[in-house]
Amino acid sequence: MSDSVKLVKNNQELIDLPVLQGTLGPDVIDIRTLNAKAGMFTLDPGFLSTASCESKITFIDGDKGLLYYRGYPIEQLAEHSDYLEVCYLLINGELPTKEQKDQFVDIISHHSMVHEQLTWFFRGFRRDAHPMAMMVGVVGALSAFYQDSLDITNPRHRQIAMDRLIAKVPTIAAMCYRYSIGAPFNFPQNKLSYSENFLHMMFASPCEEYKPNPVIAKALDRIFILHADHEQNASTSTVRLAGSSGANPFACISSGIACLWGPAHGGANEAVLKMLDEIGDESNIEAFIEGVKNRTHRLMGFGHRVYKNMDPRAAIMRTTCYEVLSELGLQDDPKFKLAMKLEEIALQDPYFTERKLYPNVDFYSGIVLSAIGIPVSMFTVIFALARTVGWISHWAEMISDPQQKIGRPRQLYTGSKRRDFVQVDKR
Ligand code: ACO
Repeated sequence: MSDSVKLVKNNQELIDLPVLQGTLGPDVIDIRTLNAKAGMFTLDPGFLSTASCESKITFIDGDKGLLYYRGYPIEQLAEHSDYLEVCYLLINGELPTKEQKDQFVDIISHHSMVHEQLTWFFRGFRRDAHPMAMMVGVVGALSAFYQDSLDITNPRHRQIAMDRLIAKVPTIAAMCYRYSIGAPFNFPQNKLSYSENFLHMMFASPCEEYKPNPVIAKALDRIFILHADHEQNASTSTVRLAGSSGANPFACISSGIACLWGPAHGGANEAVLKMLDEIGDESNIEAFIEGVKNRTHRLMGFGHRVYKNMDPRAAIMRTTCYEVLSELGLQDDPKFKLAMKLEEIALQDPYFTERKLYPNVDFYSGIVLSAIGIPVSMFTVIFALARTVGWISHWAEMISDPQQKIGRPRQLYTGSKRRDFVQVDKR
């Protein structure tokens, strides 16, 4: 097998480009010397054929429907692990020992409160602000409150910033929700697990005791695991690019949240619920599918840029969906029945099968979140909460890479050639 690729222009060999092999996945042509040696760039809008970095964190094979965190299949982690253990794995590269896990859980629990002045910061927002708008602002503002962990060249500072982000983002996420409904903020409870604590901060009333439902807490923990990382997606690449300039980790995660907010990325489960509302009734499915085929609209929650097979997270989320609805006695909920009918019809229709359009994780996660009582406007916030560990793991991997450079894409310039300025009265 060839270990280099020759670049030829007008029958003249310009450069021999090395071909690199990863541990898994396709070979990669190393074009780092292309500009210096051949005076040319490559053009690849949307990075369809470009690896932006080397990474050891997550592997995806979209054709086979595989997703591994640090080599472990997502199915095994979702079945046997828990979110904080997965966080440790993503950050450190190995599963923790019992002692390491206990210590990590303890650290995260004890970092979950936010600086009291941060609670005042919220009052500057309008009550009707979208929770994601508040998330972008408040997570970015953490750098103003935790100035003792901003030296990115210091590994201890980096570790503290990572712990703080994983611990405090759920508290901030719940505060965004509580603020939007005019409810008082709930302090975190260290005796609760990560997902139980989030449910407590979201839904507890200070006037009553709150006992998180273990089935719901488990389902939420699984949603967090499934969304924890997804290699170099748009928001992770945004975090890496922001971090490549030396920006502090809180600012970088805020940039990731901003990117995730877009409907083509983190907003899809919200779109699934809106679509189900629009369809309204099983009798309207046929007409809706016809509209999809006529390209009037898309079937939200179907298809994926990378997975051209079943999204492995979708299969797990489907099972979780059934568990949650059965626990809450919602199996006959009309919206759920409508979703299942839609899924059944689409999976048998050649329009979808020929294009390899399968349900993605968002098709089911919106239904689960909605059943738990989480409002649609908070769906992307939950995604951001879970993805914070993925973003911060990639940020840390990049910062500690000795070859790291500031990200600076080039361009194919198609604007005007040089021309002379004309005074305004002569134009
Ligand atoms: N409904 C109907 N047709 C679709 C859908 C869909 N959901 N997705 C793709 N197609 C069709 C396209 O029209 C196109 O058909 P054509 O070849 O006849 O022109 C073909 O399938 C390929 O579509 P592309 O848009 O080229 O596929 P791409 O990989 O770029 O898009 C995307 C992926 C954006 C996710 C798309 O499938 C989509 O819009 N899905 C709905 C939104 C959604 O659920 N997003 C969540 C993604 S998962 C996540 O972010 C965690």
